[in-house]
Amino acid sequence: MLNKEIVKLLNEQLNKELYSAYLYLDIANYYADQNLNGFENWFFVQTQEERDHALLFRQYLLNNGESVVLKEIAAPEVKYNNFREPLVKAFEHEQFVTESINNIYKVAFSINDFRTMQFLDWFIKEQGEEEKNAEDNIKKYDLFAGDPKGLYMLDNEMKARIYAPPSLVL
Ligand code: FEO
Repeated sequence: MLNKEIVKLLNEQLNKELYSAYLYLDIANYYADQNLNGFENWFFVQTQEERDHALLFRQYLLNNGESVVLKEIAAPEVKYNNFREPLVKAFEHEQFVTESINNIYKVAFSINDFRTMQFLDWFIKEQGEEEKNAEDNIKKYDLFAGDPKGLYMLDNEMKARIYAPPSLVL
């Protein structure tokens, strides 16, 4: 049995991961509208990863005999003025998610909930990768996408990303 506050935070995190999937699907849609199908692909893969993250929180709650509480997922109210803005939005969002996961970890630590800490270890590492990937996208965009040819080549590179299921299995 898990602590009530931890259960609440884990359920909230499940919702945040679903929101992340929603946000990245919205970004994928934006790039699809702009005919940047590589960028679209990159964010579509990201959407699938976020869905997987949400399902891992679901499974962890169920494995511990806790109820999963699904709530509304907020609409991503974001309008983009240029191709770079979604990349910045994604990076900022990942920083927000890192903060959120760190906060659950802090609470788990404060009550000696070692099981939840161990579960979250995977996410702590994953967030390091997610932030790096998001920041790399901005750096690459700034370096290479200054002209149509560079943008075309970067879009092709983004097209190569393929979905892989999470390495964490519960
Ligand atoms: Fe599920 Fe991008 O963090």
